[in-house]
Amino acid sequence: MKKGSLYLVGTGIHLNHMTVEARDCIEDAEKVFYLVADPITATWILRMNSDAESLQTCYSPGKDRRLSYREMTERIMTAVRDGLKVCAVFYGHPAVLVTSSHRALKQAREEGFAARICPAISAEDCLFADLDIEPGRGCQTFEATDFLLHSRIFDPTCSLILYQIGIIGDLTCNPDKTEHPGLAVLVEQLLRTYEPSHPVVLYEASQSPTGTPIINHCTLATIDPATVKLITTLYVYPLPSREADPVMLEKLGIKR
Ligand SMILES: C[S@@+](CC[C@H](N)C(=O)[O-])C[C@H]1O[C@@H](n2cnc3c(N)ncnc32)[C@H](O)[C@@H]1O
Repeated sequence: MKKGSLYLVGTGIHLNHMTVEARDCIEDAEKVFYLVADPITATWILRMNSDAESLQTCYSPGKDRRLSYREMTERIMTAVRDGLKVCAVFYGHPAVLVTSSHRALKQAREEGFAARICPAISAEDCLFADLDIEPGRGCQTFEATDFLLHSRIFDPTCSLILYQIGIIGDLTCNPDKTEHPGLAVLVEQLLRTYEPSHPVVLYEASQSPTGTPIINHCTLATIDPATVKLITTLYVYPLPSREADPVMLEKLGIKR
């Protein structure tokens, strides 16, 4: 194995979600890169390791995010190639919708460096807790633009979670965005499966340990684009479950 290594860790949605494993990686690293959602977490990371550098500068308004992701991967990989023990810190879970994290992992391994993604708390994990959802009864997660572009097939009798509904079809980075033209396209697509009165939630996990989540119950027909932010996730309640399959009940020896 070459000198130089890469650990990709997550902060969780707020600082109290940070795992002991993630803290240790940040403290032990010879170089830290971070992309986090709030200044408190950034300050905390810098206190843990003064060799920490923000990746936020890879973004700029109107710039194609795919280019920003490539730049982030390159900055991380340059430090790994320099033989350093590198830790890259991302908001939430580092494997959940973090393109540069997956790319850096792949690249590092292909080039013969030790590399690993550590688990963390994602927005979806907070949603399960705040909305009291049991994912074991079936739960499908998609990035909203990916869901539309690839006509993803899903089971409407299971939960449906859609990430990034605030930037559907938008490949740039504009944190102040207030218009969401792609949202109407998403609703139109969902109305092919559900009634307009179908219940959904516009969800925002609290970004502070002392805060409360925003849980905006509405229906598909009453989603208000003005309330949708960059951090909003859409939860679509399941339709009633199908009856248990009698053949399976018999095969598994389960009595009704
Ligand atoms: C680039 S993804 C990052 C996901 C993050 N890595 C995770 O583990 O949850 C950004 C999307 O995550 C979701 N998200 C981020 N913060 C959130 C929050 N506080 N509450 C609800 N969803 C959130 C939203 O769907 C947002 O558009």
